[in-house]
Amino acid sequence: MEILNVRNLGKVYKAAVSHEALSNINLSINEGEFVGIMGPSGSGKTTLLNMISTIDRPTSGEISIGGKNPFRLSQDQLAMFRRRELGFVFQSFNLLNTLTVKENILLPLALDGVDLDEMNRRVGVLAEKLGITSILDKRTYEISGGQAQRTAVARAMIHVPKLVLADEPTGNLDSKSARDVMEIMDRRNKEDKVTMLLVTHDPLAASYCNRVVFIKDGQLYNEITYGDSQSAFYQKIINVLSLLGGSGHEFSPVRH
Ligand SMILES: Nc1ncnc2c1ncn2[C@@H]1O[C@H](COP(=O)(O)OP(=O)(O)OP(=O)(O)O)[C@@H](O)[C@H]1O
Ligand SMILES: [Mg+2]
Repeated sequence: MEILNVRNLGKVYKAAVSHEALSNINLSINEGEFVGIMGPSGSGKTTLLNMISTIDRPTSGEISIGGKNPFRLSQDQLAMFRRRELGFVFQSFNLLNTLTVKENILLPLALDGVDLDEMNRRVGVLAEKLGITSILDKRTYEISGGQAQRTAVARAMIHVPKLVLADEPTGNLDSKSARDVMEIMDRRNKEDKVTMLLVTHDPLAASYCNRVVFIKDGQLYNEITYGDSQSAFYQKIINVLSLLGGSGHEFSPVRH
């Protein structure tokens, strides 16, 4: 079943000088897929994610998520739609530092009025899967970057959203923590069929996806799918990145 459909999407940022950040983007994601978006800095990846996440409006084209066009909803309906149907993971974690790890994870459920026993049950199960049971009562300043990002992944999934959107989730992590976070996202995708869209510069992170879509200068450039093995996919990703051009430093260093 199709979860996300993006049709002929375009975005122009209007300023003193207008800038066409995206043009004619088409993308379809089915339930249970794990799709990566890559491309040089400034190619439009965050712009695309911000429109899918309904943070920003497209200039042209259509988006539908679970068969609904979020831009046709009222402000109140849109806020509810975002809270219920989407989950977000950011490079900077975006946890509330006055709350504990557990309270951060529970936030989407608390906002939706889920009862306490049900909240505790769900957080227990998910924390176990993500290996953060022992830090549930800690404050966010008492945990590592990797633990913070696993907490953010838990918060993005606790309400069982239709689609989880992640923008550079490994961008602030060392290579070991980055790998841990990717392993966790990969397992939630495979075991719980969580549908995910990941923007990343990191070819290793992208190699966990089923499919990677490349953007250049605001347009679709190429798309490759996972073949026989993760290492073969990783190599394919590296090959497309080198074809995409730009100097190597536009991408983060390759992790080993
Ligand atoms: N709010 C804005 N107003 C005007 N121009 C913008 C705005 N946001 C982004 N842009 C421009 O749109 C283009 C695409 O930006 P975007 O942030 O989507 O790139 P990106 O692919 O996410 O890059 P990075 O890999 O560096 O995060 C860039 O040229 C950028 O300068
Ligand atoms: Mg970006």
